[in-house]
Amino acid sequence: MDVQPKSMHGIWSSRWTFILAATGSAVGLGNLWKFPYVAGSFGGGAFVLIYLVCILLIGVPVMMAEVLLGRAARKSPINAMHHAVVASGSRSGWRLIGWVGIFSALLILSFYAVIAGWAMDYFTLTAKGALYKLSGDDAVLVFSNLVGDPLRLVLWQSAFLALCLFVVAAGVQRGLGRAITILMPILFLLLIVMMLLAVLKGDFYSAWMFLFAFDFESITWRAVLEAMGLAFFTLSIGMGAIMAYGAYMPAEDSIGRTVLTVAILDSVVAVIAGLMIFSIVFATPGIEPSAGPGLMFISLPVAFGNMAGGQLLSFLFFFLVVIAAWSSAISLLEPAVAWLIEDKKISRPKASIFLSFLVWILGLGTVLSFNIAKDIKVVGFTFFDALDFLTANIMLPLSGFAIAVFAGFIMRRDLVRAQMIDLKTKYLWLWLWLLRYVAPVAVLIIFLMGIYDKFSSV
Ligand code: PHE
Repeated sequence: MDVQPKSMHGIWSSRWTFILAATGSAVGLGNLWKFPYVAGSFGGGAFVLIYLVCILLIGVPVMMAEVLLGRAARKSPINAMHHAVVASGSRSGWRLIGWVGIFSALLILSFYAVIAGWAMDYFTLTAKGALYKLSGDDAVLVFSNLVGDPLRLVLWQSAFLALCLFVVAAGVQRGLGRAITILMPILFLLLIVMMLLAVLKGDFYSAWMFLFAFDFESITWRAVLEAMGLAFFTLSIGMGAIMAYGAYMPAEDSIGRTVLTVAILDSVVAVIAGLMIFSIVFATPGIEPSAGPGLMFISLPVAFGNMAGGQLLSFLFFFLVVIAAWSSAISLLEPAVAWLIEDKKISRPKASIFLSFLVWILGLGTVLSFNIAKDIKVVGFTFFDALDFLTANIMLPLSGFAIAVFAGFIMRRDLVRAQMIDLKTKYLWLWLWLLRYVAPVAVLIIFLMGIYDKFSSV
């Protein structure tokens, strides 16, 4: 039982492939689309600080635990949890972590594909020059034309899911590994070019002041919950994605060092994306930084459209968003695909097709919540808002809590140690302390206060 099992899906070809794959999973719409507008809506600096603290004190320890659970079993999250539960002689209820993880990943993918589809649509619009010299009103119209047209949304949602299916069906090394080694260098390059252009052409100073000026007045428990949910979402933790990727991590790699690298890269990208987007937004008078989910699809195109060379920038930007979303979405599909292969003995291509189809159908709910069903609301939420809130602010934190408690207290100590042999004793203790006491307590307090705050104001 203690011998390291073999993965039936393959292993990443090197330590760097895991780092790239996990960073590819982490860097996505969460960094480029969600972080800037949420930081904008919750007042900037103080929110960013809380977000970074959540990443460091809660996100990193939980992410390490997730990778550890995956690698210890070398199986999909459901079977990885089963393996850990049996090996530790603990209650079988803990296996729920794997089920909830895979279920949340599919729910997230269902709306993720729709939003990524918007970026694909905008990418083709900029390629055609349709966003040139856009006024604010035109931009609102372009956006409402898109989201008001269910067929167009379904078309892009399907195209995006097809891209994911194509990669996942080809397997861990030939599909995921290869896609990541091609996509990630492009992503980094685009990000650097965009950042330089934004600094040269935009209002970098105002963007900096906005993201790093502290306004503690705007911090409520609701904002703290949002920051923590975003930290989980952006690190891809609490839903099995990182556990599934951990299952393919070479045995000799250091989990601590690797996870820290991924978390740092992910935070740097979020901050760079924020600086880049706000530099451009602030350079155009009359655009609000707190423009909500439309920030990337309304404010930004106006700013791009009225800037010298803005068309090229906008083209590169939406290309960047599609690539980032693609490299994340494959990690949302992989855990469930791996499980179907293991337990139902279905081939990888069949499992990928079946699950993509399931996600596609679920995604229709999100598609319709922007048009035909936009007035159907439960406690103020449309279908899309509800999915987003349920996954990021409820399911992910609760899963994160359970993972921390399981790996911190329940899992057999020698099994935990066996995955962490490279860690110096003092770091091992620091990690265990964060995992056992800081992460669960913080998650619980923030979760309860945030939910109370949210629903007491409805
Ligand atoms: N981390 C991704 C992002 O920030 C989203 C994601 C969540 C990807 C969960 C995989 C798993 O966009």
